[in-house]
Amino acid sequence: MTRQSLQLELAERPTGEIVPGKTFRQRQVAAPTEADLRDGQLLLECLYVSFDPAMRGWLDDRRSYVPPVQIGEVMRALTVSRVLASRSAKARAGDVVTAPMGIREVGVVAEDQVEPAPAALQQAGGGGKVTDMLGVFGLTGMTAYFGMTRIGEPKAGDTVVVSAAAGATGSVAAQIAKIAGARVIGTAGSDEKCRWLKEELGLDVALNYKDPDFKAKFKEATPNFIDVFFDNVGGEQLDMALGRANTYARFVMCGGISQYNAESKSGPTRNFFNVITQRIKMQGFIVFDYAKEYPVAIAQIGQWLGEGKLKRKETIIKGGIASSDEAFKQLFTGGNMGKLLVEVKNPEEVSRL
Ligand SMILES: NC(=O)c1ccc[n+]([C@@H]2O[C@H](COP(=O)([O-])OP(=O)(O)OC[C@H]3O[C@@H](n4cnc5c(N)ncnc54)[C@H](OP(=O)(O)O)[C@@H]3O)[C@@H](O)[C@H]2O)c1
Repeated sequence: MTRQSLQLELAERPTGEIVPGKTFRQRQVAAPTEADLRDGQLLLECLYVSFDPAMRGWLDDRRSYVPPVQIGEVMRALTVSRVLASRSAKARAGDVVTAPMGIREVGVVAEDQVEPAPAALQQAGGGGKVTDMLGVFGLTGMTAYFGMTRIGEPKAGDTVVVSAAAGATGSVAAQIAKIAGARVIGTAGSDEKCRWLKEELGLDVALNYKDPDFKAKFKEATPNFIDVFFDNVGGEQLDMALGRANTYARFVMCGGISQYNAESKSGPTRNFFNVITQRIKMQGFIVFDYAKEYPVAIAQIGQWLGEGKLKRKETIIKGGIASSDEAFKQLFTGGNMGKLLVEVKNPEEVSRL
């Protein structure tokens, strides 16, 4: 019997939040087979899909750093996948790789899109897991590393604030600042997340931004002002950080998740001119800017994991591609701690072509 492959296609562009059952359509198609492969291609089956806030931006038809996903196309996503068949020297049948295969169970991918598991996976504390290839060794780990080390450049004694600090990027960025000897404050959306940040990751202060006293606590926690702000959230928290910025502060503009679903965007207003008065350096970046240097970051992160200096967490939603709507919901309502993934197939299960 022909193998079927479930895929998630963009059905219509959302104006605000992704609408379950409406924005995307699930469709069963005949899975490609080894016979469909040309030279330089690999047949992959998805094990885990990475869910990233950036995916919301890819649905809007406007100029960005990648073209928008078109209506009817398979939703773009990075995956950890197993090679079912290969006509490439890059990986063999049975290997586990990362590839931007999109949200589908089986697909054909060109070899230049495929990354084999890094050697650093073996060094990681507690034994590296294939899911780390989408987390600490994946784009969120790379984002945290390059954003913090190249733009934030924290020094011992600096005050560093990281927003969405219990997320995949934020949790790694905050720990890198701790390793650099900074005093680190994280913000997150629940007391449970704040406990994890303080008790397990060793942050100096963790603040729940839903706390009615958040603004007062934020001010209290930054008596010497902020030297580095690693922003994942934008909006009100960015404005607050500008209000508490030290002279010559570095603002690492990583993301602005509080604005991704907003139909009318709001940004820093009251405190924006502190950029001038406090001579703040505010720099945006896209992780791909550092692609050539990923091996450096992967080796360093692998070493920190092995030494127990860096910890990571993941939130895995089981239920396959059918649970994509649930994953998008959790991402934008703070359901995840650490890296958010959907398990499409347990790696222990036997694969067939
Ligand atoms: N520049 C780049 O190249 C690059 C690359 C990767 C990621 N990013 C950006 O980095 C940020 C984090 O991405 P990630 O993949 O690591 O996701 P993540 O932080 O693991 O997950 C998103 C988190 O954002 C928080 N959040 C959601 N809505 C919010 C709101 N309205 N206000 C405040 N917090 C909100 C939630 O946690 P709470 O419970 O704390 O609300 C949620 O868990 C995003 O802005 C993303 O776009 C940038």
